[in-house]
Amino acid sequence: MLVLGIETSCDETAAAIVEGHSNSYRILSETLASQAKVHEAYGGVVPEYAAREHLSQLPLIVDQALREAGTSYRDLSAIGVTRGPGLKGCLLTGLTFAKALSWASGLPLLGVNHIEGHLHVARLDNTELEYPFLALVVSGGHTEIVEVHDVGRYKIIARTSDDAAGEAFDKSANLIGFTYPGGAALAQLADSYGKTHFKLPRVMREAPGFSFSGLKTAIALLVKREKEALQDPNIRGALAYAIQESIVDALCFKLELAIKTSRIKQVVVTGGVSANKFLRARVQALPGVRVFFPQFSHSVDNGAMIAYLAALRHARGERSALNIEPLSRWPVEEVL
Ligand code: KG4
Ligand code: ZN
Repeated sequence: MLVLGIETSCDETAAAIVEGHSNSYRILSETLASQAKVHEAYGGVVPEYAAREHLSQLPLIVDQALREAGTSYRDLSAIGVTRGPGLKGCLLTGLTFAKALSWASGLPLLGVNHIEGHLHVARLDNTELEYPFLALVVSGGHTEIVEVHDVGRYKIIARTSDDAAGEAFDKSANLIGFTYPGGAALAQLADSYGKTHFKLPRVMREAPGFSFSGLKTAIALLVKREKEALQDPNIRGALAYAIQESIVDALCFKLELAIKTSRIKQVVVTGGVSANKFLRARVQALPGVRVFFPQFSHSVDNGAMIAYLAALRHARGERSALNIEPLSRWPVEEVL
């Protein structure tokens, strides 16, 4: 079985070809065009520009994936595409492209859930990882803890009611002078300084989900008050450390609670923020659990996770109708 996967939910145009044989899957090719440069100047993703960029990149990225896999449309078994969640115009671009391919080739279409893709790709990279597991998905767009019992069987344990963890990193980074997307630069400064005297609020310990807006306000006020002092690189380093600690503490506190409540002993950490060394170390220090990370190119948005999930669903005999619409909001719990 050969499945093409297409991902256009946000600011990466990505495609991949996955080959599957009796429950074993491997990636034949992966291609990606990042739009980071397009959005950098605006301090965030501009949905209209993102959709247009997908439109021009899609044919090239998909053709390249087929070429690099040494295959063509004629050899494919199915076409998988991200149906949601994500930016509506971006999803519409990828979905329409995939529908046209499906219609013209007669190949079955599978419109799949982006978060579900993030959840399962960890198993493609870690063959020892079995169901059930807990997944902490942390990126610029998502922050959730999910119990994963099988394809289509999920329980959302916690999610953010405002900013995503990556957004919290990026907005805080911006407040202390880094340009978008700033999260990795803030982390690097924090790690190089290694300590802090600042006390930032601990985020939402009592409530069930995540919320980072209070932290952002606290940082904004602190930056205003300490404007002079923050000219000193050591003081900026100390503040970066406190910010990183506060965000990571919120994630780990809720993750530990989820481990205790669910009694699930395997944890997956994925999404762009999973690159954070402080977070990785804190999660790996949690007692009694085995921690898995997908390879980094499969942690950030990518085509392989969509191709893999579509292949799993194709193997179960599923296909989508050609009139499906994009779903900008689509919690994994609502995926069948
Ligand atoms: O999954 P991802 O590449 O894409 C989107 O969600 O769009 O995640 C990107 C996010 C950004 O917010 C970025 O600042 C954050 O991941 N990020 C980090 C680190 N590396 C990337 N945040 C904290 N520490 C890092 N080392
Ligand atoms: Zn994502």
